[in-house]
Amino acid sequence: MTAALRDIQALRERIDQRLKTLYPEGPASLTAPVEYVSLGKGKRLRPLLTLITARACGGTVEDALPAAIAVEALHNFTLVHDDIMDHDELRHGQPSVHARWGDSSAILTGDVLFVLALKELRKSPAQVDRLTEAFAQGALAVCEGQALDLEFESRADVSLKDYMEMIDLKTGQMLGLAARLGAISGGGTAESIAGAGHFGLLLGRAFQIQDDLLELISDAGTMGKSLGSDLVSGKKTYLYLVAFQQAPDEVAAAVSAAGKNIETGVNLFRELLVKTGAREKAERLIRETVDSAVAALEPFGSGKADLLAFADIVLNRKN
Ligand code: IPE
Ligand code: IPE
Ligand code: MG
Ligand code: MG
Repeated sequence: MTAALRDIQALRERIDQRLKTLYPEGPASLTAPVEYVSLGKGKRLRPLLTLITARACGGTVEDALPAAIAVEALHNFTLVHDDIMDHDELRHGQPSVHARWGDSSAILTGDVLFVLALKELRKSPAQVDRLTEAFAQGALAVCEGQALDLEFESRADVSLKDYMEMIDLKTGQMLGLAARLGAISGGGTAESIAGAGHFGLLLGRAFQIQDDLLELISDAGTMGKSLGSDLVSGKKTYLYLVAFQQAPDEVAAAVSAAGKNIETGVNLFRELLVKTGAREKAERLIRETVDSAVAALEPFGSGKADLLAFADIVLNRKN
């Protein structure tokens, strides 16, 4: 293990330590699912990004921890509600919150996580107003992105530009927020806060395209979540849009097959991804987008080593 990876592991342990006490008191019907989703096998990418960015701006991990926990709680809130919306029953290798406790409890669990996120953020030792402003903007963006994601399911005229706008809102802005919270907590300059936000946004864009690809080429065991549902529900992913441009009839046939049997439909679609070049195009776009993200780190000069290591982790992730 390299020094950078060892360090990231140590940061992850500090995050998990704090997550253990995120919601110590409350009705068991809420504390249990909050703990379940917060301490599950998530990768903790967003809080790691907050801590690493704070350090790159000359701040301390301690000062950025409340913001890091806040962004992870916000992220987990979106996952709990997203699984209800996407009818997905597996997350972090275990039943999703709504599959285990029902929709009503899952809605409330998400609500509680959102409030806990705000409470954590307010424990930050400085810049609480600026942090809260950034948080509100990022949280609103996710809701707007999720709204577009849903709207696109029943629209046939979604362009690649529409898709990019949607994923920037639902995923890019969240990584952008994680990085900005870190830069603000770490006392970064206006330039480094903007650079960090842009880095996070582009990394998040690459992350979502990669996630849509992994949904099709990986397996549920590795990813720990339900796969293949994008196709059945008519999600307009990058891969779908590119493949559809090239071979509309065959893509329609794969979607229709997935409605009857997911595995059959996914297998047909996988072949189309290769045949239409959609997979190759997506892989190239992911790499190029990560490169653009790295270019946004210019204000950090030689202090960007950990952020580069982080970008590498995202690019090479398997789940
Ligand atoms: C899942 O994000 C939601 C997307 C934006 C695709 P992560 O893969 O980072 O979620 P964790 O690791 O399970 O928390
Ligand atoms: C990711 O949504 C974005 C949010 C959760 C806000 P997806 O629906 O694309 O992600 P997975 O595949 O369920 O993790
Ligand atoms: Mg989903
Ligand atoms: Mg979704």
